[in-house]
Amino acid sequence: MRDSDGYALLDAGDGRRLERFGAFVLDRPAPGATSPRRDPAAWAGASARFDREQGPGPGRWSPPDRLPERWDVRVDDLVLELRPTASGQVGLFPEHRAVARWAATQAAAAAAEEGGAASVLNLFAHTGLVTLHLARAGAAVAHVDASRPAVAWARRNAALSGLDDRPVRWLVEDAARFVAREARRGRRYDGVVLDPPTYGHGPSGAPWSLAAGLAPLLAAIRPLLDGRRGFVACTSHAAGLRPADLASHVRAGLDLADDREVAVHELALDAESGARLAGGWVAFVGPAEGGKGG
Ligand SMILES: C[S@@+](CC[C@H](N)C(=O)[O-])C[C@H]1O[C@@H](n2cnc3c(N)ncnc32)[C@H](O)[C@@H]1O
Repeated sequence: MRDSDGYALLDAGDGRRLERFGAFVLDRPAPGATSPRRDPAAWAGASARFDREQGPGPGRWSPPDRLPERWDVRVDDLVLELRPTASGQVGLFPEHRAVARWAATQAAAAAAEEGGAASVLNLFAHTGLVTLHLARAGAAVAHVDASRPAVAWARRNAALSGLDDRPVRWLVEDAARFVAREARRGRRYDGVVLDPPTYGHGPSGAPWSLAAGLAPLLAAIRPLLDGRRGFVACTSHAAGLRPADLASHVRAGLDLADDREVAVHELALDAESGARLAGGWVAFVGPAEGGKGG
């Protein structure tokens, strides 16, 4: 594949995003695109457009036959399979690349310090962007998602990226149930990455809501971390959760000592047109200076 087979945000505005995913340019809804479009002429070049019928439920792609059932894109030197889904997603959240790169850097640093592979838990892991970054950095990864098709998709992405021989445990599981079970088993991880949706459901249909579930999930994650050495990345795409609230959830849930910093960054993308697209927030907690301790 050529580098031009990659991803680019071309423009955003008026509630929509215009993006090149390899061979196709997609025009999709984007609640974070609150400003006017910067390059209105560019939108005529879209291969396909997605519209919701009403509200956040399923919608439709038009023209209906323009996109193939699947195509591949190169992102961060990984190869990912994309598919047009009924929710308007295609299997890649590009704003999440910043989280994946940070986690891979942390995993490599933990491995260098300890002299072995870092172990990282990736919750709500979807089609595997973070898992593939971690695996490439040499980490052993537990990849957890409630959706069997999403986990199968992530495994295909590992194979496409030449990473299917890496130590990844592919788990179709409810995130909270898996964390509770790992705690009972006394498992420890060097790092945890979680990208919880605002609403979701476990494999047996049990509902997940960020507002109710995030605090208890973070508290349950704490015993899995190796004391002050552990790193955590936690995102929020929920409109209602402000950055300060995300930081305080993370601090309280992980019961962080006063000297541990919670750094909150905006997950935003810069378009070629100069537009900026907001995509939520991420809270990063790095390991404490000086390593072990309470
Ligand atoms: C927003 S996506 C994650 C995006 C991904 N991190 C990325 O950047 O590619 C949310 C994922 O959470 C999963 N999910 C929803 N509820 C879940 C639950 N209770 N336990 C585990 N996974 C869940 C969904 O199947 C979906 O794959």
